[in-house]
Amino acid sequence: MKHFLDIDKTAPTELRSMIDHAQSMKSARNGRPKGSPDDEQPLKGRMVALIFEKPSTRTRVSFDVGVRQMGGQTMVLSGADMQLGHGETIADTARVLSRYVDLIMIRTFEEATLLEMAEYATVPVINGLTNRTHPCQIMADLMTYEEHRGPIAGRKVVWSGDGNNVFASWAQAAGQLGFDITFTGPPTLDPDPAHLDFARSKGSRVQVKRDPFEAVKGADLIVTDTWVSMHDPQSAKERRHNQLRPYQVNEHLMAAAKPDALFMHCLPAHREDEVTSAVMDGPQSVIWDEAENRLHAQKAVMRWCLGV
Ligand code: CP
Ligand code: NVA
Repeated sequence: MKHFLDIDKTAPTELRSMIDHAQSMKSARNGRPKGSPDDEQPLKGRMVALIFEKPSTRTRVSFDVGVRQMGGQTMVLSGADMQLGHGETIADTARVLSRYVDLIMIRTFEEATLLEMAEYATVPVINGLTNRTHPCQIMADLMTYEEHRGPIAGRKVVWSGDGNNVFASWAQAAGQLGFDITFTGPPTLDPDPAHLDFARSKGSRVQVKRDPFEAVKGADLIVTDTWVSMHDPQSAKERRHNQLRPYQVNEHLMAAAKPDALFMHCLPAHREDEVTSAVMDGPQSVIWDEAENRLHAQKAVMRWCLGV
């Protein structure tokens, strides 16, 4: 069974082949109408369940469109509307869904939910974001970096802000694909050291810096994300904003990186908080390509899972 649960659980050669496949599928579509089918229809006759226990725009729409372009059908399910949200176990839900659908994508809170779904499902399960990681996002981000700048191996990626789920998948990718990663943010919002240790154990140069301007020296890519994630309590908002304000990605910070450094954000963004509009809409930003590439990267992930 090929589940796509995390970047650190997927072999580097497999990650590489999915990223390259995504790029070739993107090229093959070559500006066609979004609703037109791909020449190949590898998901013909297949049914995909997309389960959301948290809000989503990109993940929901890109998976749905991707399945349809490949000839399959989708079912978008809200966790709250399922018996899952009313006491049925994850294991039982996984067993039942596996009798109806060929593939399950789930966006949930606890990683344990994802792992239990994968353990009891007899069809592949894809991680559409948990409190801990967001691997589909980073597949699109890696593809986007390479589309603009060539191989990411050996490059320096700097994350400025909260050491959250998206950062975790970036750190895992650094280890798997051989690039360097620097985290800059307040000590109270440091990432789980396990992710940094993973990257280090694979030979990446890993740094944690409190001074964002020091951190971005020599950066090829600067990445940030919301200061308050979906799983964070709203009561923490003011404190987080105060702590994270010095880590805002603005033109001054971008100017301290390499002149050809790119800017990425998984979106949704909070303009003038974690990033200024001048950067988001500026020449170094590749955020719209990054959002588009969710579609192509996930199509490659689904094909890999299904072996089609
Ligand atoms: N980046 C991302 O996962 O966006 P959504 O929350 O809109 O799916
Ligand atoms: N860190 C954010 C990512 C959203 C795509 C969250 O978990 O809310």
